[in-house]
Amino acid sequence: MELCVIEGDGIGHEVVPAAVQILRVVAPDITIHHAPAGWHYFQQHGTPLPDSTIQLAARCSAVLFGAVSSPSYPVENYYSPVVRLRRELQAFANLRPTRYLPVPTAREGVDLIIVRENTEDLYIGHESTSDEGRTGVAQKVITRVATERVSRAAYELAVRSGREKVTIVHKANVLPQSDGLFRRVALEVARDYADIITDELLVDTAAYWMVKDPTRFDVVLTPNLYGDILSDMAAAWGGGLGLAPSLSLGDGIGIAEPVHGSAPDIAGKGIANPTAAILSVAMLLRHHWQRPEAADRVENAVYAALKQGEHTPDIYIEGAISTQEFTDRVSSFLT
Ligand code: NAI
Ligand code: MG
Repeated sequence: MELCVIEGDGIGHEVVPAAVQILRVVAPDITIHHAPAGWHYFQQHGTPLPDSTIQLAARCSAVLFGAVSSPSYPVENYYSPVVRLRRELQAFANLRPTRYLPVPTAREGVDLIIVRENTEDLYIGHESTSDEGRTGVAQKVITRVATERVSRAAYELAVRSGREKVTIVHKANVLPQSDGLFRRVALEVARDYADIITDELLVDTAAYWMVKDPTRFDVVLTPNLYGDILSDMAAAWGGGLGLAPSLSLGDGIGIAEPVHGSAPDIAGKGIANPTAAILSVAMLLRHHWQRPEAADRVENAVYAALKQGEHTPDIYIEGAISTQEFTDRVSSFLT
């Protein structure tokens, strides 16, 4: 098995080596290759995602992606490399679980998974300005084929992991042609899964419930943008962004990627929480490489370290340890 490791920018350089350290213990047979991408690489070479990185990733069975920095203003020739990579590798379903972890910032009883469409919606990046910069236009694209495959992935995941309910989240009341299509196709797929309860919520109401009572959610199936936003909200209930893992699955290549970004405010200090990256590797082991025992080992070790009170400063300051110390603690709990 070959893994393409892309650290990216900022804390990607800190949390990804931590996750690799754990992976090497539980799956020593995996061959690891490193490849560049990101804002820093763009500034030196003029492209954020070199062809060589795409080609290497495509030859591997999976990618471990840290995070990249993307400016919030237009930069010629720059695009988000992770958004592009998900599309290039057709990793069309992004699984973002939030489950209670033993830290004071987490909420007990939460156990949900957001399945986010990963290849289209507003994230295709077809944007323009007109009227001498006074009007900005972005294209939102929803297709039957992309909705059908992500819906099937969500229902299959529900069946596989013994979950009971899928909530389809959209804004079809305002966008009946795009979100309406997403809703119709998702409900069509739902008919094939009579044992799973299907319900639906408008995205604003879903946001309300995500804050008010996240325990009402089980599997959430939603287009790209809403999934991005709702999963950060959910991450707060899981204890914080530093603890929120994700895995993108699709036509063959899995991408393990923490939900968080490059965290420039703490980058380079050696204090980033590596849990999200480590748990993303556990997701890769469980859902892509079909190695549930190795995944259990990783998750149990993280749980044990947190339960013992080990934590980085994002959880709380008092008694906080560094990224490396925390990773070593997790490693010491690997049975
Ligand atoms: P962010 O997720 O990088 O950080 C948000 C806040 O959470 C910050 O205060 C940060 O310190 C904290 N945080 C995040 N991960 C943490 C960790 N592992 N340990 C401890 N604290 C952590 O989001 P932000 O600040 O909005 O974006 C920063 C950059 O990241 C931007 O350039 C953005 O475009 C990029 N980004 C990249 C993503 C990716 O590559 N997948 C995803 C989200 C943002
Ligand atoms: Mg995000």
